[in-house]
Amino acid sequence: MRKKIIAGNWKLNKTPSEAVAFMQSLMPLVSNTTNMVVVAPSFVALPAVLQAAKDSNIAKDSNIYVAAQNMAAHEDGAYTGEVSVLALKELGVLSVIVGHSERRQYYNESDSSVNAKLKLARKHDLGVILCVGENLAEREAGQANQVVAEQVKAAFAGVEAALIEKLAIAYEPVWAIGTGKTASSADAEAMHIHIRKTLAALYNDELANGLSILYGGSVKPDNIKELMAMPNIDGALVGGASLKAADFSALVNFDK
Ligand code: PGA
Repeated sequence: MRKKIIAGNWKLNKTPSEAVAFMQSLMPLVSNTTNMVVVAPSFVALPAVLQAAKDSNIAKDSNIYVAAQNMAAHEDGAYTGEVSVLALKELGVLSVIVGHSERRQYYNESDSSVNAKLKLARKHDLGVILCVGENLAEREAGQANQVVAEQVKAAFAGVEAALIEKLAIAYEPVWAIGTGKTASSADAEAMHIHIRKTLAALYNDELANGLSILYGGSVKPDNIKELMAMPNIDGALVGGASLKAADFSALVNFDK
């Protein structure tokens, strides 16, 4: 059984003190869940959020984990303004979001840099949430399956099966991110099955079936149940609705 993962990507929101205040409101609201809860603050808020999660995990045995939103494609060196996998590991970050469409779109992140980041993160045993998804023009042209399969293949190029552990994929159609439009649960399910088939062809069925595939794109308290009812949707990667403790806890507790 794949455990459900509800992950909040805060993007360019929340200062360190706002992040801590959020964690203090969130933690009591999600202390009874068996779902895995992940929050992805900005780099500078990571230490404070990790401390807040640690305090709560000790006190309540909850399932809150902390992820970074990005990392450098290089381990170290002369790359001004970048953050290394080594720094993330030292802080105790669980995983990193790689290849979010906003990185691909606004920061020219290529399939090859996504591949380099994925390999580097796994080399250091950092978990990865790999984002893939087609844009509106690609969906309307009937190319969504092909585009997503190519993104998956490029991201996993040269990645050994042994490194796939601690890896999740988030299918996020670009046209659904921050727009209020969601893929129908049937369309999302179909794409998740397609991603699993792509992975099975690259590796094997067992690996493809073991990997968690999250859906992202305007997930809200009023549409999450329907999405999570699909057998191949293993969780959600959430932007807008992850910013308020009341909304995000409603997402985490969708099965209550
Ligand atoms: P959204 O963002 O929930 O605001 O659509 C999702 C994401 O970018 O991960």
